[in-house]
Amino acid sequence: MADDIPGVPLADYSASRSCEITPDRIDIEPFTMVIFGGTGDLSQRKLLPTLFHLCADQNLPDEFSIIGFASSDRTDEEYRELVREAVEKYGNDSVKSECWERFSRHVCYVSGQFNNVDSYRKLFTRLQELAKVNRKGAKDVLYYLAVPPHFLPDIFQGLSSCRLCKGEFDTRVIVEKPFGSDMETAIELNRLLGASFDENQIYRIDHYLGKETVQNILFFRFANSIFEPLWNRRYIDHVQITVAESLGIENRARFYDSAGVVRDIVQNHILQLLSLVSMEPPIGFEADYIRNEKVKVYRTIRKMDEEYIDRFTVKGQYGRGVIGGDDVAAYREEKGVASGSTTPTFFACKIYIDNWRWAGVPFYLRTGKRLPKRVTEISIHFKQPPLMLFSSACKVREPNVLVLRVQPQEGIVLHIGVKHPGIGNQLYPVNMSFNYEEDLQGDVHFPLPYERLLLDCMKGDQTLFARQDGIEAMWSVVDPIIQQWERAGAPDFPNYPSGTWGPGSAEELLHREGRQWHIW
Ligand SMILES: NC(=O)c1ccc[n+]([C@@H]2O[C@H](COP(=O)([O-])OP(=O)(O)OC[C@H]3O[C@@H](n4cnc5c(N)ncnc54)[C@H](OP(=O)(O)O)[C@@H]3O)[C@@H](O)[C@H]2O)c1
Repeated sequence: MADDIPGVPLADYSASRSCEITPDRIDIEPFTMVIFGGTGDLSQRKLLPTLFHLCADQNLPDEFSIIGFASSDRTDEEYRELVREAVEKYGNDSVKSECWERFSRHVCYVSGQFNNVDSYRKLFTRLQELAKVNRKGAKDVLYYLAVPPHFLPDIFQGLSSCRLCKGEFDTRVIVEKPFGSDMETAIELNRLLGASFDENQIYRIDHYLGKETVQNILFFRFANSIFEPLWNRRYIDHVQITVAESLGIENRARFYDSAGVVRDIVQNHILQLLSLVSMEPPIGFEADYIRNEKVKVYRTIRKMDEEYIDRFTVKGQYGRGVIGGDDVAAYREEKGVASGSTTPTFFACKIYIDNWRWAGVPFYLRTGKRLPKRVTEISIHFKQPPLMLFSSACKVREPNVLVLRVQPQEGIVLHIGVKHPGIGNQLYPVNMSFNYEEDLQGDVHFPLPYERLLLDCMKGDQTLFARQDGIEAMWSVVDPIIQQWERAGAPDFPNYPSGTWGPGSAEELLHREGRQWHIW
C-alpha cells in the first residue's frame, strides 16, 4: 500500500487503538496580567476563579502576577480578600490554604480611574516592579479589558499615552464581547484598538469558542475521512443549528434590552458554529489558516434583502409561562425591562451559503430565551437514498442525521435505519452515539472555556479568537436583519409563552418546506 499522505506514516493498526495523548501540561512563560475591571462581575464570576484553578492545577509558571485595576480604593490585602471570596463563591476548587498561599502572593491591586493619566503612570511603575523577563528576553504583559464597552476608548488612550502598549513590555490585549453593536461601531472599535495595538496583539474573546465540544467540530470533520466526502450539497439535505436557553435574562436587563437576541447570540455564537460546520478544510491548524476559512463562510452567506428577511426570519419575545414546573414572568415583566419593550428574545432564520460546497442547501438557525430546555445542537440531515428499495413495505423512512451535541451531554449521535427483526420488512431508526462523559470516563478533564482561552492568550495562540475582518463580516450578515426588524416593529409581542419552542411561525418556516425542527 502506498504512503499516500506526505508525512503521515501508514497506520500500525496494532498500536492505533491507543493514540498517544499530548500531556495537558503547557509551558507558559512568566507573565503579568492586568485585569481592568478586576472587581467587576465578570472578574469575580469567571476570570479570578479560572486563574486560581489554573494555578491549583499547576498550569501557571512560578513567576506570574495578577494586577486588579478598578476605581474603588483597596489595598493589595483587601483585593486578595475579594479574590478569595470570589473563588470560594464561584469557583469549583476548594481554597485550600497551601494552594491559596501560592496563588495569592501573586495577586495585587492598583486603584485608578480609566480616564486619568496618573492612574496609568501608577500602573507603569507597578509593572516595572513586577514584570519578569522570560526566556525570549521579553516581559509579557496581558491586559484583560473586563469592563463595559464605553470605557474602552479611555483605556486605549491611557495605555497608549503612558507607553503601555508597545515598548518596554511585550503586550497583548484581551477584549470581551460585544465587539460593537453594529458594523459601524465595530469598525470604530477596531480603529481605536488598531491605533494602539497591532492585530497580532489583539485577542477578541468569545468564551463559546473555548468549549471543548465546539473545538471538536473541526477535529471531527477533518480527522475522520468517512464524513468529509459526504459533507456537501450532493448528500446533505439541510443543516439545523439550535442554541436554546431555558433561562431568562437574569440580571442582564441593561445590556440585553438594548442588544436583543441577534446581537447577544446570533452575531457571535451561532455564526461561529455555522462557520465551523461549513468551512473548507484549513491548510493548517495555525490561527490565520482557520480564521481565513471562517471569514470566507461569512462572506458567502447570501445577502438578505427586506423581502427575504420578512419571509425567512422569525422574531419573538417570551411571555409568561412554565419551565420545569415553575411559573416564570414575561420578558416585559423582568426587572429593568420597559413594560412596552420590543426587544426580541427569539430568532429563527433560513440562510444559504452560496459556494460550491453548499449551493442550495438551507441552514436553519434558531435561538431563544425561556425555551423548554438548555441545549445546543447542530444536526446534519442527509438526503434520502435515491431509490427507496423498501418503500412499499416500510412505514418508517427517516433520513440519516448526524448530531453534534455541544451542550449538555456533549457528544455525537448518528441516526441510522436498520431492519427491524422479524418476518416483515420494517426499517427501524436507531442511534450510534458517542458521549464524552460516558465514553471517555476517567480519561477526560473538561477545561472551563475561560481556562483554555486564558492559557492560549498566555501562550500567544490566537486560533480561538476572532480577527477584525471576521467580526466585521459577521456584522454584515446580521445588520440587515436587525435594521429590518426595527423598521417592522413588533406589534404582536409577546408572541410565545415561556417553556415553548418559540412562535408558531418558527415551526411554519420549516413545515412549509416539508421539514421540521429536531432536538435529539
Ligand atoms: N458578567 C459576565 O458574566 C459577562 C460575561 C461575558 C461578557 N461580559 C462582558 O464583560 C465586560 C465587563 O462586564 P461586567 O459585568 O464584569 O462589568 P461590571 O460588573 O460593571 O464591572 C465594571 C468594572 O469596572 C470598574 N470601573 C467602573 N468604572 C470605572 C472607572 N471609571 N475607572 C476605573 N474602574 C472602573 C469597576 O470597578 P469599581 O466597582 O471598583 O469601580 C468594575 O471592576 C462587559 O463588556 C460585558 O459585556 C460579562
